[in-house]
Amino acid sequence: MAFEDKSIDLLTPQEAEAELARLAQEIAAHDRRYHGEDAPTISDAEYDALRLRNAAIEARFPELMRADSPSLKVGAAPSATFSPVAHSVPMLSLDNVFSDADVVDFVASVRRFLAFPPDRELVFTAEPKIDGLSMSLRYERGRLVTAATRGDGTTGENVTANIRTIGEIPQQLPKDAPDVIEIRGEVYMRRDDFIALNQRMAETGRVFANPRNSAAGSLRQIDPEVTRTRPLRFFAYAWGETSEQLGETQFDIVRRFADWGFTINDGMVRCNSIEGILAHYKSIEATRAQLPYDIDGVVYKVDRLDLQARLGFRSRSPRWATAHKFAAEKATTILTGIDIQVGRTGAMTPVARLQPVTVGGVVVTNATLHNEDYIRGIGSSGQPIREGRDIRVGDTVLIQRAGDVIPQILDVVLEKRPADAVPYVFPDRCPACDSHAVREEGEAVRRCTGGLICPAQAVERLRHFVSRGAMDIEGLGEKQIAFFFNSEDPALQIRSPADIFTLKARQEKSLTKLENVDGFGATSVKKLYAAIDERRNIEFSRFLYALGIRHVGETNAKRLARHYVSFAAFREASEAAVLPQDKGDKGNAAWQDLNGVNGIGAIVAAAVVEFFAEDHNRRAVDALLEEVTPLDEKAVGAVSTPVSGKTVVFTGSLEKMSRDEAKAMAERLGAKVAGSVSKKTDLVVAGPGAGSKLKLATELGIEVIDEDQWFERIGNGS
Ligand code: IVH
Repeated sequence: MAFEDKSIDLLTPQEAEAELARLAQEIAAHDRRYHGEDAPTISDAEYDALRLRNAAIEARFPELMRADSPSLKVGAAPSATFSPVAHSVPMLSLDNVFSDADVVDFVASVRRFLAFPPDRELVFTAEPKIDGLSMSLRYERGRLVTAATRGDGTTGENVTANIRTIGEIPQQLPKDAPDVIEIRGEVYMRRDDFIALNQRMAETGRVFANPRNSAAGSLRQIDPEVTRTRPLRFFAYAWGETSEQLGETQFDIVRRFADWGFTINDGMVRCNSIEGILAHYKSIEATRAQLPYDIDGVVYKVDRLDLQARLGFRSRSPRWATAHKFAAEKATTILTGIDIQVGRTGAMTPVARLQPVTVGGVVVTNATLHNEDYIRGIGSSGQPIREGRDIRVGDTVLIQRAGDVIPQILDVVLEKRPADAVPYVFPDRCPACDSHAVREEGEAVRRCTGGLICPAQAVERLRHFVSRGAMDIEGLGEKQIAFFFNSEDPALQIRSPADIFTLKARQEKSLTKLENVDGFGATSVKKLYAAIDERRNIEFSRFLYALGIRHVGETNAKRLARHYVSFAAFREASEAAVLPQDKGDKGNAAWQDLNGVNGIGAIVAAAVVEFFAEDHNRRAVDALLEEVTPLDEKAVGAVSTPVSGKTVVFTGSLEKMSRDEAKAMAERLGAKVAGSVSKKTDLVVAGPGAGSKLKLATELGIEVIDEDQWFERIGNGS
């Protein structure tokens, strides 16, 4: 029997002492790899098992607990961070498509939006999607001044000193470059360079999982001299802020980047048909293995910039581009266990624990199992999946990993099923609080009913609260939240969002000092308090998103914030709103207003009303408002346009733009677009053939203009 497997009841004090010493050392090493180096070498489950064993031994031999016991630590100190850089033009992500049919749909949707007839030429660029990390390089008067990572798309990390060490990135642009230009592209590492680097690093016991991690880890070095020794490269393929128009097409502009000394990818071509696009995709896919660097798909972009401008953006990605991803990579392994994770709404998600297996260069130890029906072989509309085969612990399973998506279990290999494997029984109690778990009619998820008493839900809510798109409090990661949540010390405990903001004051009055807790230290505590204080004034939309109301994600939070401007007004309306009771009922005025917010429907509105109807939610928000001030949305850089705040109705046929484009344009300019005319309508844009809506507008004395006057009014829409 391996030493560490020996039953704890049988350990002698000497053995226990030796094992506690070994565990302290081993766990500390894993903490360092996980937190400091972004390179864990064991799965979360294996890590948890080490900590559990350590705790169990300590429980039996409390007198042997070490001063450096892992039980007293909450992970390694955060790595020295880079200063934030606000992107003047957001760094967006790309939508994904996976099949030829999806590409046909993408092109069709672009044509529809632009109201392009089938015979009108529409050109796309098609180029490899590089598997690295995106970077924005800002040049002013030709000189490289800042280099920033993408971060959350709005704010990235300042990595200028490290970027300056990359030979392929020009420090100085030629005279014909604009005064201000942000070049965007991908930092990556070639496969051969990655292998050589790992060989060099093997002696240190630390290697990277794949070229992408290797590039990211090399770039995020505290010491630029370390980055200098790493073979990083850069492809330029896009841009952010520019002080002058760079050209008329995507293709020509990227070609100019090459004249300025950047490396551009020679796999970029122009295509004027779907067939051309798909042919290029296939040729890139066929040569993929021979390329010296990793790519994970092909990116298509509308070539003409004027059309890109018309198409604009959705909340996270441009309408004018998409990424066509290569088929996922597959592998088989053994399912060693199924754990249940409890989310902030109580949803219980089964997670597969797998015997580690390498899929496309990445070691996979966990996979999602979606829900209990999925495990049983039942699809979302009750139909059999995997021909009805269920998934059992001990099974050999086929897993798939596509890009950054969590790996999935696709199928089981029945021939390899162990004789003693039994069907999985989904728990009907919450593993965290033992409350009943129920599945509502028509729902696939089983939820814990523990609500406020469920620690898993509370921890998840706190994690959401401090997460990037929400309050974005640096230094409060998963491990730290769990530590503060589980602490029995009133001066350290964080159980609700407001507690985060009272932590410092409670600490000041207390004898137990956070800086004495292993893993924190004076500097990290100071940083944590500063990060918390920085968020005492916060955008209304972030604050709202942080509350974690069901269905109120980042986009809906923005919509609500823009409509109500102040949190107080929003809350007042939400508390005053009365939901319709039956079919004929329309609800009161506050409800209609909430339900009528651009992009918000009855499901979201009802979730908001239900949230504020709960006493404990109101109390939690009140406590939070004692500490935090949500800023009025207008105060956060909203621009005023000739139609901002106005309710606009488009009717009749439009000739210069599609209905979708008209709506997107109006919303971009801060207007609300309604489907029908009422007393609340401010403006009607009527095209030929307008009928009853136009008539009603005239009767109500509402201003009516035509399409040309619309463009005049908004000054061409940009
Ligand atoms: S264009 C507005 N082109 O893919 C969109 N992105 O999944 C600008 N990427 O964040 C991006 N190769 O890091 C573009 N040829 C390429 C790319 C590329 C890789 C990355 C980029 C982006 C991510 C989106």
